[in-house]
Amino acid sequence: MRILVTGGAGFIGSHLVRRLVLESGHEVVNLDALKYSGNLSNLKTIEAHARHTFVHGDIGDQPLIEHLLREHRIEGVINAAAETHVDRSILDPGAFARTDVVGTGVLIEEARRAGLQRFLQVSTDEVYGNVETGMSTETDCLAPRSPYSASKAGGDLLALSYWTTYRFRVMVTRGSNTYGPNQYPEKFVPLFVTNAIDEQPLPLYGDGRQRRDWLAVEDHCSAIEHVFFQGEPGQIYNIGGGNEWENIAVAEQIVRHLGKSRDLIRSVQDRLGHDRRYAVDCSKLRRLGWSPVVPFEEGLCATVQWYQKHEDWWRTIKSGEFRQYYEQQYRQRLQEGVTETRVKG
Ligand code: TYD
Repeated sequence: MRILVTGGAGFIGSHLVRRLVLESGHEVVNLDALKYSGNLSNLKTIEAHARHTFVHGDIGDQPLIEHLLREHRIEGVINAAAETHVDRSILDPGAFARTDVVGTGVLIEEARRAGLQRFLQVSTDEVYGNVETGMSTETDCLAPRSPYSASKAGGDLLALSYWTTYRFRVMVTRGSNTYGPNQYPEKFVPLFVTNAIDEQPLPLYGDGRQRRDWLAVEDHCSAIEHVFFQGEPGQIYNIGGGNEWENIAVAEQIVRHLGKSRDLIRSVQDRLGHDRRYAVDCSKLRRLGWSPVVPFEEGLCATVQWYQKHEDWWRTIKSGEFRQYYEQQYRQRLQEGVTETRVKG
């Protein structure tokens, strides 16, 4: 199939593109705006592949999307382009509304007008909001609480309305916290791994007892592909790894894998509006024939090793734009937290 994948130079997108091209034999046009987290070096193994075409551009650029869909005779779209980091959405919410809502709107409208066979919107479990107990199912009301999750919820609803209104074949996936190689080091796992390698403090928000369900990027991508080809139009599918851990426990595993001191873990001022827990019920997707295969301990260990072996990749990032962001996000937090709030064992 000829598929347009957007955000294909990012973390999940680049794993997905590699999978579709190299393992499943599809033709992929890969559209990425190459904003701060899009990285062409994520595509090294396929950049010259005959079934892969990279295009630099934005999902909100209507003439470009119209042209690409026609020029490449695209049959389906997987929208993995998004602003994704909660902390950045607190600093600059406008960028999230522009890409995750307006950009999605432009992309899906062009896809509908071109008469494509299917459209998959890659979303997040964060749209369900804070889930103190139990598990979110696809029929639950949405209760997003950050500009990021609210923008993603807007994109989801817009996409789903195209099934109700036009019978355009849309599916939405809502994945849980994803980890693995090539993840931009602003996110929890790669930030803590790379800081620990450099023996820098690991800034744990609040009491560190927030819970997330960790999903290996390979499992996330196999689920997206499965839903794209096997999913029912108009349906939502939760994707989770079934690995619920408190942040503090993940931080401890990271320092243990690296043989570093637990004293690197520092309790710092909490994120505004921090959701305590996300958890998804994935039985609908399991009934469709998908299940995750990567056990968390193994996946985390392999991820730590990848960052150890690919220092060039993340050191280049950390010495660029990232430094300014890190300063803004963490300098004061770490200064305040350094002496008196080491996390108790
Ligand atoms: P993150 O990777 O930002 O994903 P999300 O907010 O989408 O779940 O964060 C995962 C968890 O780790 C979340 O509870 C916030 C926490 N966290 C920290 O404690 N310190 C940090 O520096 C970061 C980035 C996250």
